[in-house]
Amino acid sequence: MQAQTFSILANVVKERSGLALTPDKAYLFDTRLMAVARRWSLDSVDALANRIYAQPNDLQINDVVQAMTTNESLFFRDTKPFTLFVETMLPALKKVRAARRHIRIWSAASSAGQEAYSLAMLIKDHEAEFQGWTFEIVGTDLCQQMVDHAKTGLYSQFEIHRGLPDSMLHKYFAQAGDHWQISQQIRNMVRFQTGNLLHSLSSLGQFDIVFCRNVLIYFDVATKGKVLDAVARQMPDDGYLVLGGAETVLGVSKSFMPMPDHPGLYAKRRFDAGKAAVH
Ligand SMILES: C[S@@+](CC[C@H](N)C(=O)[O-])C[C@H]1O[C@@H](n2cnc3c(N)ncnc32)[C@H](O)[C@@H]1O
Repeated sequence: MQAQTFSILANVVKERSGLALTPDKAYLFDTRLMAVARRWSLDSVDALANRIYAQPNDLQINDVVQAMTTNESLFFRDTKPFTLFVETMLPALKKVRAARRHIRIWSAASSAGQEAYSLAMLIKDHEAEFQGWTFEIVGTDLCQQMVDHAKTGLYSQFEIHRGLPDSMLHKYFAQAGDHWQISQQIRNMVRFQTGNLLHSLSSLGQFDIVFCRNVLIYFDVATKGKVLDAVARQMPDDGYLVLGGAETVLGVSKSFMPMPDHPGLYAKRRFDAGKAAVH
């Protein structure tokens, strides 16, 4: 690979997605981008980088970014956040939102939708406790392909057998050829759209619960901080932020603090003008 190929591609990927690639990851360009180069009738990753440098083309750049991002996800990933959702977040919000009876949830970086649909299935399971309430779940992801996949609600046997309890499979999925499709009722509970965490997503409105998991790990500290500060602006003071197991706000952003009794959950840090945090 030519010396400048790494810097050209790493720069466009960082600029578009936040994904920070260090030179030790240069080999990933070869393994992931050869197919992109061929799709554009180019015979090497070097040629792809040179083309992007000489004549930046949004479609080509998007192909590169999509090939370099990791879209790994699974239903009920890590279990614990979903237990906390049912046992901690929903009961607390039931009290503080009693007047409004409406709860908004954001699956930021929703990949193929497994996280958002896991939350929707849990809400459906608990609907008897929330008579008269409405829930809104929004899933956003940088990748159009992931958003399109999420909207179909169609999953392979492999995707289904990673994390989805049998009881949920039988209740909420129907076989569709060699795939499984989540029920229309659950699909209607979730809205998916593209959304780049590096850009303002304020048009999405305020969310009581934000799941922003396994995406910050790919960003450098400055980008993580900016994204977390932007997420905080879309949450009320009593909202809940859920991060992935390898992610934290500590040393990254002053907008949130860990909730002492609930590992993995973060609350907004409230500031009094000129005083220390009071949360
Ligand atoms: C590893 S998946 C995590 C999916 C899910 N949150 C989970 O924990 O299972 C990371 C997702 O982040 C998305 N992503 C990467 N950069 C992004 C950005 N700047 N804005 C929004 N989504 C992004 C990728 O497209 C990918 O689908």
